[in-house]
Amino acid sequence: MADDLRRLSRAIRQQADALKVWGIRELPIPRPLAVSSGREIPSISEGFRQLEQEVIACRRCPLYRTRTRHVFGEGSPDARLVFIGEAPGREEDLQGRPFVGAAGQLLTKMIEAMGLRREEVYICNVLKDRPPGNRTPELAEVDACLGFLERQLALIRPRVVCALGAVAARALLGPHVAITKVRGAVLDYQGIPLVPTFHPAYLLRNPDAKKVVWQDLKKVKRLLDESP
Ligand code: URA
Repeated sequence: MADDLRRLSRAIRQQADALKVWGIRELPIPRPLAVSSGREIPSISEGFRQLEQEVIACRRCPLYRTRTRHVFGEGSPDARLVFIGEAPGREEDLQGRPFVGAAGQLLTKMIEAMGLRREEVYICNVLKDRPPGNRTPELAEVDACLGFLERQLALIRPRVVCALGAVAARALLGPHVAITKVRGAVLDYQGIPLVPTFHPAYLLRNPDAKKVVWQDLKKVKRLLDESP
């Protein structure tokens, strides 16, 4: 019980700190934290394990030759919300984890500002390997890798998907989508509401855009709260 209270107060402090960074005064109410029942939540489902083995063995594009580590994705396989980025960057390639560099730290703050914890959502990318020098993914690379993302989403079956940036929005919605036009709209991906917004790396270069992204994230949170 004392442990649960300590976790709850740590989560509230974390969220208040994250909100301060965004200059936000309103406090979204977080979902109650799961009280430990002594039962370990399985770290990853069998379907995920198999899919990750396929990613490791994949030779459909040449990026496996230059990667340090593949970056499959991380978070809860039961996540109600999935964030999808573009491709691993330098830090992600070294660690084998998505969104752990500067853009990732901002994404974590965005998630916490929504009243959620990074571990309860799922975070992945369109590409599972880093394009050399962090260049924009080529269409052929997106085509080669998209099936993995589609299968991840089919396994998780989230309530809401948030596409971060143009590459993720185009991969899931079609090649003619312009992120500046669709940002903040509630669109459809295979029956799942999908909200595209700007990529955290773009926010690092254009901090003024945080205001509109915060509106998008509040919309995502509303959709989550309204969904069963
Ligand atoms: N940018 C992305 O799109 N994905 C990452 O994992 C990190 C940075």
